[in-house]
Amino acid sequence: MIYLDNSATTYPKPLKVRQAVSSAMQNSANPGRGGYDLAMRSSEEIFRTRKAVADFFGFQKEENIIFTLNCTTALNIVMKGTLKSGDHVVVSSLEHNAVMRPLQKLTEKGISYSIANVFPCDNDKTVDSFRNAINSKTKMIICTHASNVWGIKLPIDRISALAHEYGVLFTVDAAQSAGIVPINLTFENNIDFLCVAGHKGLYGPMGTGILIVSGDTVPSPLIEGGTGSNSMSLEQPSDLPDRLESGTPNYSGIIGLRAGMDFVSSKKIENISKHEFGLIKHLYKELSKIPKVKLYLPEPSEEYFVPILSFNIKDMDSEGVSSALNKKGIAVRAGLQCSPLAHKSMNTLETGSVRISPSIMTRPYDIDYLVSAVRKI
Ligand code: ALA
Repeated sequence: MIYLDNSATTYPKPLKVRQAVSSAMQNSANPGRGGYDLAMRSSEEIFRTRKAVADFFGFQKEENIIFTLNCTTALNIVMKGTLKSGDHVVVSSLEHNAVMRPLQKLTEKGISYSIANVFPCDNDKTVDSFRNAINSKTKMIICTHASNVWGIKLPIDRISALAHEYGVLFTVDAAQSAGIVPINLTFENNIDFLCVAGHKGLYGPMGTGILIVSGDTVPSPLIEGGTGSNSMSLEQPSDLPDRLESGTPNYSGIIGLRAGMDFVSSKKIENISKHEFGLIKHLYKELSKIPKVKLYLPEPSEEYFVPILSFNIKDMDSEGVSSALNKKGIAVRAGLQCSPLAHKSMNTLETGSVRISPSIMTRPYDIDYLVSAVRKI
């Protein structure tokens, strides 16, 4: 199989990730729940992973690293644990349903939102549209760092400065950027909440995500339960990470995530990005030579994009193209990719798009094979 759906999850996972998961399953007890050696060692491994995440994102407070099931859970904790009736939120026009569905649900509790249009390759206009969407009730700006459909990268440094200027919280959905674009919270110090998928650009197992509570605001828990700490009290602990981590964690997933981050660090983010951009730029050039292929945006550059490319073939539904590619052994994701808003902004709600997303494992041959298959279709 030629796998080009790494925005959904990276595949294959590096050998060291698979080995770490397997070894974690063989050598663990419930972390934080026992005073015997195996449970204590497991707790230490979780702590080491928190430290590794903090180092990876240039952040100092390990206890503010929260392990979640995925990026969606991290976003839900932030929104549902922070926003109150009367609050207003600004989101970008490229948000995933991981942001839009919880936000829509919150409108039932008196929270409102506005959508700021993103202008591809024009950050001045994009920042202006965020500025224009802010009002006196705005409590938070939430934006994706990079669109999972179009690969468009948002200028989060400028949007975070804007949030700071207006005194509103800033949440970044880094599902598609972590591991591909460097994120350093020491420099990006106006980000209040960073939400990350563990199983995409960080090469960890599915079922892993991270919330970094990087500002002073701490969300209320989405769920309460056992934490292994202060068990006499029926109140949820107020300290992080326990406040936001109830129940037995995905231990082997978390240990696998640390191995994934080690893998990314050993390859270096700039090399991963260079490799993937090389493939995507080549793909763009080749697809633009095929008359019936519809490309929606300029050739992706590192300044304005992450290496994700969506296209369509004229007169064909994107799902039909994906199914024809599947018959040729090529795995891509078509349809709306859970991001109807991003499709609305490009007028592709009816057709969806065929999305190509490489990883460090993708070879030039894979892209050439895809191009030849598209030509035949
Ligand atoms: N959010 C993931 C995607 O874009 C699953 O495919």
